[in-house]
Amino acid sequence: MSKIKDSKLAPQGKLKIEWAEQNMPVLMQIRKRFAKEKPLGNLKIGCCLHNTKETAVLVKTLKAGGAKVALCGSNPLSTQDEVVASLVKEGISVFAWRGLSNKEYYWCLDKVLDTRPQITMDDGGDLVNIIHLKRKELIKNIIAGTEETTTGVIRFRAMEKDKVLEYPIIAVNDAYSKYLFDNQYGTGQSTIDGILRATSALLAGKNFVVGGYGYCGRGIASRAKGMGANVIVTETNPLRALEATMDGFFVMSMNRAAKIGDIFVTATGDKDIIRKKHFLAMKSGAILANSGHFNVEINIPDLEKLSKTKRKIRENVEEYQLKNGKKIYLLAQGRLVNLAAAEGHPSEVMDMSFSIQALTLEWLKKRKKCLEPRVYEVPEEIDKKVAALKLKAIGVKIDKLTKEQKKYLESWEEGT
Ligand SMILES: NC(=O)c1ccc[n+]([C@@H]2O[C@H](COP(=O)([O-])OP(=O)(O)OC[C@H]3O[C@@H](n4cnc5c(N)ncnc54)[C@H](O)[C@@H]3O)[C@@H](O)[C@H]2O)c1
Repeated sequence: MSKIKDSKLAPQGKLKIEWAEQNMPVLMQIRKRFAKEKPLGNLKIGCCLHNTKETAVLVKTLKAGGAKVALCGSNPLSTQDEVVASLVKEGISVFAWRGLSNKEYYWCLDKVLDTRPQITMDDGGDLVNIIHLKRKELIKNIIAGTEETTTGVIRFRAMEKDKVLEYPIIAVNDAYSKYLFDNQYGTGQSTIDGILRATSALLAGKNFVVGGYGYCGRGIASRAKGMGANVIVTETNPLRALEATMDGFFVMSMNRAAKIGDIFVTATGDKDIIRKKHFLAMKSGAILANSGHFNVEINIPDLEKLSKTKRKIRENVEEYQLKNGKKIYLLAQGRLVNLAAAEGHPSEVMDMSFSIQALTLEWLKKRKKCLEPRVYEVPEEIDKKVAALKLKAIGVKIDKLTKEQKKYLESWEEGT
């Protein structure tokens, strides 16, 4: 059973998925092995992910490995309707379409949970959250969960600290071959892509404010700088602020940045980064976007209250006419601009993130129920394996430690 927007879009989706497959050599190699060995034999997986062409490549890989997958979206605006249509045609259960209401969003998650998954695969933690708050009866069937993004991992670490987490979670986000590339280069490029597709604005010479200098923030800042923008960073962590300063960015408070910024992007995983006092200080014409997981980084209720009128002026662009006469432009309703206004991360990057997911699932299947209910790192051997496979796929050879070097690095006696 499935519920999607339009099954007639399947041929278009199939072409999109094929395009992604060409650029995901590591995951395709894993798929080939999975198809032979069926390591996930009959494992029921409930996925709550951004339904992009790359997610489709992952889901097809899990299916090839023998898993039974049910899929919903992890954001109301990130589902690519043609992609899910193609997945349904291939026999995957999907409950997702672009433009879900809040109620529909949670209905879709419940449908996936009705399949009684043994593994939950989250991007932002919503499946785990619902299971713990409303559907505890499912926990006895669950082996573990995996989490794709920083915000989800933060939520699960908070649950672990409060001793309420009832099954193990593998923090896929925290694997090096995930966040160093996906969060940084993936979010960096695709956020700029989303802003450009929505606005067609020139970045050169603009004051481009980035809220948060984490892995996503630094990716966005460096890409905007590369396009000729004057990049300003806001931070709350002194170390990250210092890094941004030494990387050559202007660092200041949002109070100051609000007065001079032309384009603002938040990527903090926090809330209210841009709020009432900042909207009031902004120049007329300021463009606002968010690339953090939830739509709380830009305080939209504040913006609504300050506004006289609001109208959709282009796809993914809403113009707010403030009572003080200024105009502010909000992209993609303050939701992940790279997924809502563009296509999310490039396939080359998701190749690594989703290979980690696939190999972690295989690892979990072997362990069955022997893990504690806490947040685990991805095993180092999986992380290194994915990096090594990626290097091989792109034709990069690296050196091997000699016996003497290995010994030297493990010893302490030898000095100058
Ligand atoms: N758009 C995407 O496709 C995508 C991809 C990966 C992650 N994410 C999401 O992006 C967000 C950031 O992820 P990350 O991996 O960069 O996290 P991170 O923890 O590496 O960085 C977040 C940074 O924001 C800073 N911060 C927190 N509150 C702040 C505030 N009030 N003002 C200024 N800075 C503040 C923190 O100090 C930190 O340096 C998360 O919500 C994550 O889930 C989105």
